[in-house]
Amino acid sequence: MRVLVTGGAGFIGANFVHYTLANRPEARITVLDALTYAANEASLAPVIDRIRLVPGDVADPEAVDGLVADSDVVVHFAAESHNDNSLRDPSPFVRTNVVGTFTILEAVRRHGVRMHHISTDEVYGDLELDDPAKFTPQTPYNPSSPYSSTKAGSDLLVRAWVRSFGVHATISNCSNNYGPYQHIEKFIPRQITNVLSGIRPKLYGAGENVRDWIHVDDHNAAVWTIVDKGRPGETYLIGADGERNNKDVLELILELMGKPTDWYDRVTDRAGHDLRYAIDSTKLRTELGWQPRYTDLRAGLRQTIDWYAGNRAWWEPAKQAVEARYAEVGQ
Ligand code: NAD
Ligand code: TYD
Repeated sequence: MRVLVTGGAGFIGANFVHYTLANRPEARITVLDALTYAANEASLAPVIDRIRLVPGDVADPEAVDGLVADSDVVVHFAAESHNDNSLRDPSPFVRTNVVGTFTILEAVRRHGVRMHHISTDEVYGDLELDDPAKFTPQTPYNPSSPYSSTKAGSDLLVRAWVRSFGVHATISNCSNNYGPYQHIEKFIPRQITNVLSGIRPKLYGAGENVRDWIHVDDHNAAVWTIVDKGRPGETYLIGADGERNNKDVLELILELMGKPTDWYDRVTDRAGHDLRYAIDSTKLRTELGWQPRYTDLRAGLRQTIDWYAGNRAWWEPAKQAVEARYAEVGQ
């Protein structure tokens, strides 16, 4: 099977490449990635002789067309992915997330190639802390940020191309991922690398916001389940019942790293900060038989901390600039 992985030099895409090489020996992988600030070629270095890495922009029809024509399936991860950046400058989010997905859709339509579109639970907006409800495939779209609204736009394009043109595509909306190779601008790796650098961790507001954490390998196992068994045109929600508020996650990281659990700063809250995300993944579990394997957040965080501690060369060069950018906005 020839698999085109867009965004394969980013966090989830690189883990998908490693997961696929380990579990699907028949797959021949091509990565299309614009190698933005969010990419790290070192994430693919251990396997670079087993894949083809093509630098290029998913919003460029010429870069995309031949690669799609040469594939059996496109797994579309490429995106601008960080909410805080989308509040500073939304324009690359519109281009990559909306125009990029449109460009992939037109190519898979031309060449009759199967597509799986990777999206987020953030398209549904947020839930109240005391609401027993979770997001389901029937929850109306209600995105809050430039990031989540461009992801919502990309999902709606996929749905329309399925209905109007019969494109053979599926969509998944996953909750917050953690694990190795995640950019250190994101919550969990930022705090781990802060502690490793002697910097006090930074909690937005009171830290009551709830995220539904899933290990990146569970996400990628679910993606393969959908590629193998998903019904065309369907949307699947991916989540591992991992709801925790940010303060609890931070205190757990501090405890695992041998620091006092109050060794952090409360900083300026994010504008429009979504309160709570929670996924009901019943459809994926009952219809397609997927189950998460990493259900112990403590064990998953310990593995993630060990990875950042053992791979300083992967993240240290970016640390100072990331913290300087946050400091500019009081975070
Ligand atoms: P990331 O920011 O770590 O990686 C994104 C990758 O896409 C980078 O390698 C970057 O170079 C590449 N890219 C950006 N613009 C591009 C362009 N125009 N053309 C080609 N490549 C481009 O993101 P991630 O966290 O790995 O997220 C991957 C996907 O999963 C995204 O679609 C995101 O919306 C979705 N998602 C992420 C999470 C999460 O918790 N991280 C949760 C649910 C869904
Ligand atoms: P993030 O990793 O940016 O993911 P998302 O915005 O997609 O949920 O943030 C996760 C949560 O952590 C979110 O509620 C914002 C919060 N947060 C902090 O408290 N401190 C930080 O330094 C960062 C980056 C995020």
